[in-house]
Formats: sequence, C-alpha cells, structure tokens
Amino acid sequence: MPQSQLFAPVTIPTRSGEGLKLRNRVVLPPMCQYSVEKRDGVPTAWHLAHLGSMAHGGYSLVITEATAVVAAGRISDRDTGLWNEEQVEAWKPITQYIRSQGAVPGVQLAHAGAKASTYGWLKDLADAGKVGSIGDEEGGWETFTSSPSELYGLKPATQMSTAQIKDSVQDWAQGAKRADAAGFDLVQIHAAHGYLVHQFLSPLSNKRTDEYGGSFENRTRYLREIIEAVAAVWPENKALGIRFSGEDWVEEGWVIADTIQLAKELYGFGVRHFDLSSAGIGKFYGPSGPGYQVPLAQAVKEALPEDAFVTAVGVITEPAQAGQIVGTGQADGVCIGRAALGDPQWPNRAAQALGAEMAAPAQYWRGHW
Ligand SMILES: Cc1cc2nc3c(=O)[nH]c(=O)nc-3n(C[C@H](O)[C@H](O)[C@H](O)COP(=O)(O)O)c2cc1C
Repeated sequence: MPQSQLFAPVTIPTRSGEGLKLRNRVVLPPMCQYSVEKRDGVPTAWHLAHLGSMAHGGYSLVITEATAVVAAGRISDRDTGLWNEEQVEAWKPITQYIRSQGAVPGVQLAHAGAKASTYGWLKDLADAGKVGSIGDEEGGWETFTSSPSELYGLKPATQMSTAQIKDSVQDWAQGAKRADAAGFDLVQIHAAHGYLVHQFLSPLSNKRTDEYGGSFENRTRYLREIIEAVAAVWPENKALGIRFSGEDWVEEGWVIADTIQLAKELYGFGVRHFDLSSAGIGKFYGPSGPGYQVPLAQAVKEALPEDAFVTAVGVITEPAQAGQIVGTGQADGVCIGRAALGDPQWPNRAAQALGAEMAAPAQYWRGHW
C-alpha cells in the first residue's frame, strides 16, 4: 500500500450503520491547554483558535483536550469541562468551526481521579515551582480514586464508595449527552495515563476488595458500566471511542493482553475507535523513541474485527513514518500531537510530501502550496 494511503478517506462505523466519514487518517490527539482563565471549565477563544487551526491544518478528526465530566475530575483548575450548560454553549462555535473546515469534532471525556487538583503543566507555573497538587490555600480540592496509592506522588485521594462509583458512571453519561448537544460527533473515553478509569483498570493502583477490584472482570467493571451508560445516551449515528494505556510498562501492571481482552468486550458495546497510548501509573521501564507505541496499536488492530478504527500515537513526527504505519497496516490512522504544536499545518505539509491531494485552506494557497 502506498504511503499516501495516509490521506485515503476512512469511515468509523456507527451503530446506525451510516458511519462517520474522515477525510484522511491524521488525527489530532487530546492535548490539555490549561487555558481556562476563569477556572470554570468553559472553553475560551484560545480553544477556538487552537483547535480551529488544526482543523484548517488538514486534520480529519480533531479531538479536544481531556474535558472533565465533573469539576472534581479536572487535572487542573484551568481544564475544560462538560458538566454544565454554559460549557455546552461555549463548545458550540468551536465544533461548528471545526466542521466548517471539513474536519470532525471529537471530545475526550475525562476524570483525573487521584491525579486531579494539580497545577497542570504550563511553563510559567513550572518555572515558578508550581508543580504537583494545588495547595488547599490556593483552592485545591478533594480527589477520588479506586483505592489510595502513593504511586502518583500527589496528595492522598479518597477511596470511592460503591454509591460514588454508581453516581460517577452517570456523570460520564451526562457528559456524553452534553457533548452531543455541543455538536461533537465522536466521544473518546479517557481510560489512559493513570487517570481515574486507568486507576480502576490497573492492578498496581486498584487494591479494592469489592466488585470493583481484584479480578480482571472486577477491575474493568467501572469502565464497562461507563461505556454502557454512554452508549445508552450517545446518538447511534455518532462514533464511540476509547483511549487506552495499552501497557503500564511496570512489573505486575496492566499489559497488552488485558487491553486486547477489554478492547474486544468494548467492541461488543459499540466502540469502534481505539487509540493506543501507554503508561501513567508507577515507575516506567518501557520503551521510547519514534513510533514506540505502534506495536500496541498493531496488536489491538490484529485482535479486532476489520472495521475498527485503530490509531497509533507517540513520537510520530515524519510524513514518511506516518505513511508507513498506515500503509503497512500497522494502524488505521495516526495521531500527531506535539509535532502539530510546532506546525498546525502538519497534515497539509505531509500530504504534499507524500504526493497526496491537499486540503490546505484556499486562503493559504499563496503560502507554501
Ligand atoms: C501539551 C500536552 C497535553 C496533553 N494532554 C493530553 C490529554 O488531555 N489527554 C490525553 O489523553 N493525552 C494528552 N497528551 C498526550 C498526547 O495526546 C499524545 O499521546 C502524546 O503527546 C504523544 O504523542 P506525540 O508524540 O505525537 O506528541 C498531552 C500531550 C501534550 C504534549
């Protein structure tokens, strides 16, 4: 398959059968911007400009940063949210703009669990020594998790009761309902990077002894319940996705065989987009370097029915590299994250480099094209 297969359209199946059409296989992965100045979860002009530039940069699927389903689930107090109507209204012009540029708006719904209530990762804050948990005097809030753990190096979190878990499942469903109202066409459940769902999945962080801990079936119960609750409210003509940490890369941790088993189960609930990242809990001993997570995507892709849209992510920076991953069938699409922060026109340039038809906006034709 030629490298320009990267720019062949693809359809993510939906339960209605219609499918969600993507103009190419280059996806913008979620990237926190920590830019909600008013600390109210409402996206701002920055989010419109940032995500909008990626839409006219040629991405086919533009996924928002981790967007909290409840205020307590924010990584930082500058995260976006979808727990109220004001946030829905503020997302609407953003999804409309993304769509107007030929891209599909997707949202990553998230809950940070024990990794909430931090300063986030902005250079000016880090330079000022503001890293880790926000102090109580600065508005830090109570955090919640599967079971308390010191693995995060943050302030202690409270173990969720069964009733709190049940309520939390409904928070995800309400978030999905609002995501629909806000105009998103794809919802991605954040089950990666050591955040709340992953805190339940991984045996490193989940030491519960009730029906939400212990066996694989129990540790995955919270996520299965979330997916079922989201699927019940998410329109059938829209796409359901998940982001996994395919491996913890830690001894005794969550491994790719677990991911494959769970991915198959979630496929049964209607999930069709699977994005394979890794790590986030405990001391990391895994690989790194160009394309280091691609084998995780390939393993999941090989285990799922052909119509699943499986994406690879992580240090994919070169057009030929991206083209090869898709062209050789290791993944159905690629996420280009940090490279896009340096060049939001990455997909348009890659198309040119690989000899594919370009989607560069007409307004920019006197630039490089
Ligand atoms: C600034 C920044 C913010 C990020 N925020 C998120 C996020 O909100 N949710 C998430 O799942 N991953 C997040 N990530 C991880 C990226 O989605 C991506 O997986 C990672 O950067 C590796 O891809 P890359 O090498 O193409 O950048 C973030 C990464 C960066 C650099």
